[in-house]
Amino acid sequence: MKIVLIGAGNVAFHLGPLLKSKGHQIIQLYSRSKKTGLKLSGKLKCSLVNDPKKLNSEADIYIIALRDEVITSFVKNIPFIPNLIVHTSGSSGLDVFPARMKNTGVIYPLQTFSKSIKISPKKIPFLIEAGNRKDLVKIRKLAKSISPVVYELSSYDRELIHLSAVFVNNFTNHLFTLAEKLLQLRKIPFDILRPLIMETVQKIQSDNPKKTQTGPARRGDSAIIMKHLKMLKDFPQMKVIYKQISNSIRDEYEY
Ligand SMILES: NC(=O)c1ccc[n+]([C@@H]2O[C@H](COP(=O)([O-])OP(=O)(O)OC[C@H]3O[C@@H](n4cnc5c(N)ncnc54)[C@H](OP(=O)(O)O)[C@@H]3O)[C@@H](O)[C@H]2O)c1
Repeated sequence: MKIVLIGAGNVAFHLGPLLKSKGHQIIQLYSRSKKTGLKLSGKLKCSLVNDPKKLNSEADIYIIALRDEVITSFVKNIPFIPNLIVHTSGSSGLDVFPARMKNTGVIYPLQTFSKSIKISPKKIPFLIEAGNRKDLVKIRKLAKSISPVVYELSSYDRELIHLSAVFVNNFTNHLFTLAEKLLQLRKIPFDILRPLIMETVQKIQSDNPKKTQTGPARRGDSAIIMKHLKMLKDFPQMKVIYKQISNSIRDEYEY
């Protein structure tokens, strides 16, 4: 497929090379920042533009990997009707596209991307949606060419999955950051927690997370909880998080 890739952030830096490696032709990259744009367009060996008005109108598909809040204003500035235009967001629907664009869709990679961290393409499920059957077939074909795992879902289901993803990925990662902050009080390296983190994730590969829960809140051990809250006296926000999550665990097991 002839593709115009829009954006040069975390997703575009993974998706662009992946599409190219599967034989798709990236004919143009849009990036508002020249430095990152040149880096990615160099990898993709394609032309670079920094103005939506200069987009090549000949592509089979336009893939928007921009920050969610800017998608609507960006597409308004495209001066032609794209053959097919999709975004990569988990939490935006098809309504981000103006009514004049009839061929629209979503190709959302359910994975966490950072520019510098390599990821196996086999581990990326793609959640797809389209405004009509014909476009869904095209998007499915594109997604299948880069991943064996493709799901067709409504915007609502995708948003629900994205919400769950915020819990399992973004929030957990933030908890790792807070844990590191605590360890830094005594200059203890974060490495000490890595085996525990690995085991936590490993356990839920074969079991239900509700079954694998351990810890003071799961046991209903109020003395330890009180002790931990005292230790957090200088970290009011962490104290609130500790309390809220402990209460949530207790409610789950009906103490
Ligand atoms: N990262 C993930 O793990 C992940 C996973 C699945 C889906 N997604 C979705 O994929 C999309 C892109 O995410 P990302 O993580 O790649 O974002 P990102 O790394 O923050 O990159 C966003 C891109 O949008 C550009 N941009 C921001 N504001 C702009 C504006 N006003 N006008 C033009 N360009 C603008 C940025 O340009 P500058 O570099 O110049 O700021 C950058 O190229 C989002 O819809 C996100 O929800 C992300």
